[in-house]
Order: sequence, then C-alpha cells, then structure tokens
Amino acid sequence: MKDKVVLAYSGGLDTSAAIKWIAEKYDMDVIALSIDLGMERDYESIRQKALKVGAIKAAVVDAKDVFINEYVFPALQADAIYEGQYTLATALARPLIAKLMVETALQEGATAVAHGCTGKGNDQVRFDVSTAALAPQLKVIAPAREWGMTREETIEYAKQHEIPVPVTVASPYSIDENLWGKSIECGVLEDPWVEPPEDIFTWTKSPTDAPDEPSYIEIGFERGIPTSLDGQGLSGAALVEKLNSLAGEHGVGRIDHLENRLVGIKSREIYEAPAATVLLSAHLALEQMTLSRDQLRFKQKVAQEYADLIYNGLWFSALRQDLAAYVQSTQRHASGTVRVKLLKGKSAVVGRKSPKSLYSYSLATYDEEDQFDQSAAEGFIQIYGLPVKTQAQVQGVEEGE
Ligand code: ARG
Repeated sequence: MKDKVVLAYSGGLDTSAAIKWIAEKYDMDVIALSIDLGMERDYESIRQKALKVGAIKAAVVDAKDVFINEYVFPALQADAIYEGQYTLATALARPLIAKLMVETALQEGATAVAHGCTGKGNDQVRFDVSTAALAPQLKVIAPAREWGMTREETIEYAKQHEIPVPVTVASPYSIDENLWGKSIECGVLEDPWVEPPEDIFTWTKSPTDAPDEPSYIEIGFERGIPTSLDGQGLSGAALVEKLNSLAGEHGVGRIDHLENRLVGIKSREIYEAPAATVLLSAHLALEQMTLSRDQLRFKQKVAQEYADLIYNGLWFSALRQDLAAYVQSTQRHASGTVRVKLLKGKSAVVGRKSPKSLYSYSLATYDEEDQFDQSAAEGFIQIYGLPVKTQAQVQGVEEGE
C-alpha cells in the first residue's frame, strides 16, 4: 500500500500539476482537499477535476463560517492590519486551511500534507509552521518549491500529462481570494510605478464610475463582533458578503501596498477588501467611544503585534492565544451601532452610538448644559506642568533651530 498525502487543491494549474508530480516523484496516493472560503466557484467540478487528474479521493469542505467567526472576527476585534494597509485575508485563511488539511490527513491515515506554494512567499511559511504546530509528525510536500519549473514549463508539464490547462492561465496575474478580501500580484503590477490597470479589479467599481449619491449603512456590533446591517441580524459570513457588494459598488476597499514579506522581499500587492475596510474603521470608531484613552493606546500596540504574527504565520503560537485573551477582554463593552457613509471610493464613519458610551455630552459641550468645572483645570495644570516648570528654571529651555 502506498503512503497517502493530503493536498490543498484549488483546481488551478499548479495544484493540478502537483497531483501528478507528487504521485510520480514520491509514489504516493494523493487526496485532494478543496476548501470553500467564499469564492463563488463550482466546487463539484473542481472535485471532479482532481479525480480526473489522478487523485484517489477528492473532498470539498465549506469553511466559510469557521473562517469568519474564528479567524476573521478575532482579527477584526484586534484591529489587526499589517503595515497599516493589508487587512490580512490570505494570511488569516492559511492557518485554517492547514488545520483542515491536518484533520483530513489524520482521518485518512496520511503521512504528509502538500500545498502549491512557491519558495518565495509568506504562504509556505504559514502552511508549514501551522502544520508543524498541529501535527509535527506530518511531512510537508511543496511541489512548486521543489520542482523548479517556470510557468511555461509547468504548462508544458500539464499538457504532457493530459492535465486540462485553464484559459485563465493566460492571465498574467496571481490572485488569491476569500470572503475577507482579494489579492492581486504579478504582471505589470511588478513595476511599482505603474498604476494598477482597471481590469484587475473585480470586487470594486472604479471610484470614478461609482454612484454620485452616497449610501448610508448602519452596522451593529456586539462585543466587537458585527451582528447586524441596517438593523437586520445576519450571520458573520452573510454580513461580510453583503458588505463586500455594498461597499464594492461604491469603489471602497482598493489597497495598493508595497509590502514587506517575511522572507525578506518587498512586493507590490493590490488588494480589494471592501467589507474589511468598512468593518475595521467602524469597529475602531466604536472602540473610540467605549474604551478609555489608556485602553485604546495599549490596544493599538497589541494590534500591531497581533497583525505581525498573523502575517508571519504564527496563528497557532502561544503568544497569539495570549493576545486573543487580552483582546476578548477589551471587547466586553464594544457594543453599539456605527453609521458609515459610502461615496466614491471612500468609507467614512459619520455616526456612532452605544449603551456603554463613555462620551459625555455634559462634559464635552460648550453650551449651557456644561457641567465641567473649569476652575478645577487651573490646579490640575499647575501640578501637571510642575516638572516641566522646575526643569526649565534650572536647566533652561532648548528652543531648537
Ligand atoms: N501578500 C499577501 C500575503 O502575504 C497575499 C498573498 C497571496 N497569496 C497567493 N498565493 N497569491 O498574505
């Protein structure tokens, strides 16, 4: 009996070639696993294709809800954004895919898992580290990292092995997508001076062609989790899906990021992430209302650490678990409603309310309802400014040029 390997199968050229290549090179039985994270694909024909190309078994798992509830929303609660721009769609999906592959491998008695990543990206790191954390006994096979074929050679290999070559391989772009966002690389985008051509965008209208009239939406949050849209309760996945199309229609969520990969390469990445863009800013707006200044400041530092570790493939680390517990604690009063205006490529928070709001009208107002005791400010400032005054008297003040 041959050893078995579970391959993360997308139905594309590389993973199709990988089925044949692994079977030949490693003499193993390949089980193809395709994971539905919300790309509208015909998963049954992907499954059939895997079998046709030579997998001994092929399965599809719908992981949309788990993805949104257990990976995306914890990252949203953390306000995790990599390098201030990337909303982490691919980075969040990889640990989940790895987990599902490991589970299948254990069920099937496989000795290895396999993925289609090259040796230049972050995804290989995320898969390999996640697998090592969850099931260190499993070997990881990465054909595209090992075979050393160019794109043309891979196409040639496919033709020789009667693997159907999809017409989309004519596209010069490398694309990855799931409910939380889409990434586009390669082709002309590799010149950072070149403006992304309009035809790469499929989730977002060009802001120029977007409606001239704004749309207003109200997002309801409970403990940092978005639970309703315009008063209608929705599951996480349904809410994200709906918001992707609403905000995409207004051209919201295009991101052009010259990004630092973990493997040391700077790469130019274009993203479309309408729902992520809207939800991250709405969530932060609600936190600004319900968290104290000190909580917000500390949480910002945690957000950066959290984003880095998601990006760097450390989802299953103990540190992630620790930070997640902290983030959960911060969200206990992050409930309320945020009103967002979508217009011509922009999403702006224009209103927020919460039963746990720390905003006090009678403290903030300059009207007659003002309750703030201005006479107390004087004494406060005397003590607050005391060290500056003392030091200036003794040592003077450097005015600078
Ligand atoms: N640069 C992004 C990241 O590292 C997107 C990667 C997209 N992956 C892909 N196989 N096309 O998360």
